[in-house]
Amino acid sequence: MRAIKRMILLNPGPATTTDSVKWSQVVPDICPRETEFGLLMAYVSEELTRLAADPNHYTTVLFGGSGTAAVESMLSSAVDNGMTIIINNGAYGKRMCEIAEAYGLNYLEFKSPPDDAVDLNALEQAIQSSEQPVSHLAVVHHETTTGLLNDIKAIGDICWRHQIDMIVDAMSSFAAIPIQMKEMNISYLASSSNKNLQGMPGVSFVIAEKRKLELLKHKKQRNYYLNLFAQYQYFSEHLQMRFTPPVQTLYALKQAIDELKQEGMARRYERYVKSWETLINGLSRLGLTYIVPELYHSKLITAIAEPDCAGYSFQEMHDYFYKQDIMIYPGKLSGLNTFRIANIGDITYKDIETFLVLLERYLISIGFIRGEEVNIDVGDKK
Ligand SMILES: Cc1ncc(COP(=O)(O)O)c(C=O)c1O
Repeated sequence: MRAIKRMILLNPGPATTTDSVKWSQVVPDICPRETEFGLLMAYVSEELTRLAADPNHYTTVLFGGSGTAAVESMLSSAVDNGMTIIINNGAYGKRMCEIAEAYGLNYLEFKSPPDDAVDLNALEQAIQSSEQPVSHLAVVHHETTTGLLNDIKAIGDICWRHQIDMIVDAMSSFAAIPIQMKEMNISYLASSSNKNLQGMPGVSFVIAEKRKLELLKHKKQRNYYLNLFAQYQYFSEHLQMRFTPPVQTLYALKQAIDELKQEGMARRYERYVKSWETLINGLSRLGLTYIVPELYHSKLITAIAEPDCAGYSFQEMHDYFYKQDIMIYPGKLSGLNTFRIANIGDITYKDIETFLVLLERYLISIGFIRGEEVNIDVGDKK
């Protein structure tokens, strides 16, 4: 297998992939309506289900599209005229509100701070005081904006008490942080191929109980491509996606799943956590702070307060790292200046150490910390 130039992606996905995942896309051409390809998708679907639920009762509905497609599919397919509460404590909670708005859903935005746990009493009160009965509640498991991990087990318990279907965007937690859909009372869960699964972008999916999916048949149809029931039913009957699937991305996803099974989800998370601890120790040594306290932190992505220093420019820092084949990510928090470092994908704490050495040089060059004078190059990448 020929080695492919390695980039260290510290953005929150698409993440760094192995060469074996990259090469697995180079396959003979195939018509995706052939049974051989259908069986590959059935394998992918069952293995994804197994990561969060019992495949005898739950299934994974695959879509061609980025993660937002799966989130949009859940909200626009599962919700009918009842009230939906959407927890907004970051950019992806806000995005769910925007989707609800676009479809004209009856929803209530439950705002919560981006750096603190959801107030469960206030949430339950919002449910109880809603004029219309609440039928659904939507929450992001891991807010990629900050690294905040929402307690979906506790929120699921509240939903269970009030007979509410819980919709979870688990885009950036799935395949690293354990999720048990039944025990957590999750009715619909969305994720995608290119974050902790370490596959290529282009496939997103919804995991749901088969019984619940069957019931969607009776709901008012307000979407077409993203119709969850139609996609589920067509695949069950034909072993095909309704429309052209991203063929090569699915081959890569199969390889990525096999590599996840080899590593084991618990060991993958341990690897990620070791990288995170290396990052946090390095940041505090360099005088930088991060936004979300460790107690609520996913340890997968970290929003870091930008250095308070006249010489700082995110763009220059980005270009400097980019020249060294490392990609960093801007912040997404309104009102607080942050940049973000993710430690997911096929990287280890050694890559984070490399990042920290370079970060120290950058911080010295702008006068944020003292050190032997260095000249850094932010010019064009060769
Ligand atoms: C929590 C969460 N939800 C949704 C998305 C949207 O995914 P995509 O950009 O693949 O549409 C992301 C992407 O980072 C995410 O982190």
